[in-house]
Amino acid sequence: MNNVIKFILNGEETTYTGSADNRLLDVLRDEYKLTGVKCGCNEGECGACSVLMEGSLINSCMVAMGRVNGLKVVTIEGFSKTERFSALEKGFAAVSAVQCGFCIPGMILAGEAILSKNPHPTEDEIREGISGNLCRCTGYNAIVKAINIAAKEGNGLW
Ligand code: FES
Ligand code: FES
Repeated sequence: MNNVIKFILNGEETTYTGSADNRLLDVLRDEYKLTGVKCGCNEGECGACSVLMEGSLINSCMVAMGRVNGLKVVTIEGFSKTERFSALEKGFAAVSAVQCGFCIPGMILAGEAILSKNPHPTEDEIREGISGNLCRCTGYNAIVKAINIAAKEGNGLW
């Protein structure tokens, strides 16, 4: 049975018609072609499918469309138009924190989830904030540094 689900996707009012049981991850990638949302593990363990829902980081592979009704969802495509994305992008570039890139959309959104609530995080707070996002390439140190640079870059901006 089809349901009509209304939500705000990357700032735009969006109506999805389909099963409420479909996963947000599949709908974002297949229906809306938002392929910055990656599928890594399919079971809530890797964070590659991270998006922001009402400003909080969630694994879109674990969320059914029925839960999204009335809520705001931001993917890396929507977030890439913001000031804080630019600061994070600079940070990741400055310390070469990107290798294969597969985890990076999720890592950047994890960075946003950290910085939007805490503009001056400690290293431990950054590590805690990205603890649900796995990276098989970098060993995490560069990613932590990148988010720290973004925090300093944004000092006074947010
Ligand atoms: Fe969703 Fe890994 S694909 S957490
Ligand atoms: Fe390859 Fe993180 S850069 S998984």
